[in-house]
Amino acid sequence: PRTIYLSRHGESKWNVTGQLGGDPPLTERGKSYAFKLAEFINEEFLLQGKELPIVWSSQLRRTRQTVEMIPTVNVCWRALNEIDAGKCEGMTYDEIKKEMPEVAAARKKDKLRYRYPQGESYVDVIQRIEPVILELERQREPVLIVAHNAIIRAIYSYYMGVSQEECPNLDIPLHHVFKIFPRAYKCDCELINLQV
Ligand code: F6P
Repeated sequence: PRTIYLSRHGESKWNVTGQLGGDPPLTERGKSYAFKLAEFINEEFLLQGKELPIVWSSQLRRTRQTVEMIPTVNVCWRALNEIDAGKCEGMTYDEIKKEMPEVAAARKKDKLRYRYPQGESYVDVIQRIEPVILELERQREPVLIVAHNAIIRAIYSYYMGVSQEECPNLDIPLHHVFKIFPRAYKCDCELINLQV
């Protein structure tokens, strides 16, 4: 691909309450990120006489709403859905610590390999996104991917040469875009704050 743009979705209702996973909609603030993102893509492409990038999101509401204002076709990948927290979906980190302390402890010990009961681990996620990476490698056009915390961590790590051990702890802030320039060895990256 030429350039890859990576972003989490705008703020969702569950980002505010601190609940994991689910399929919540965006908050008003999240919607203003969707607007700013569309404006940013417009400035990067249309205003420079370039065609819009290919847009990929997950199948969840919060990523689809985030790309809604970009006037191009959006492909929704199930493989881009957030890490499945299984029995802990809908819980906050504090609730997990209180109600399922063994989960909190095991995950703290080995976040990369720990698999949520009836859910996934980061190793599972890294495997699950492989087809997306393969397809991404085949693209000759710029691509914008709007997905989730764990998913952006995994894609960012693949391109930036971050080890699997470090991947689950990367800081991927909301309302920022990572602009990745693929190179033969290690890619370059710029972090853009859209100030929402
Ligand atoms: O809190 C937002 C979120 O995307 C959750 O849905 C997900 O479980 C979590 O981040 C992943 O981050 P971590 O692996 O650090 O808990």
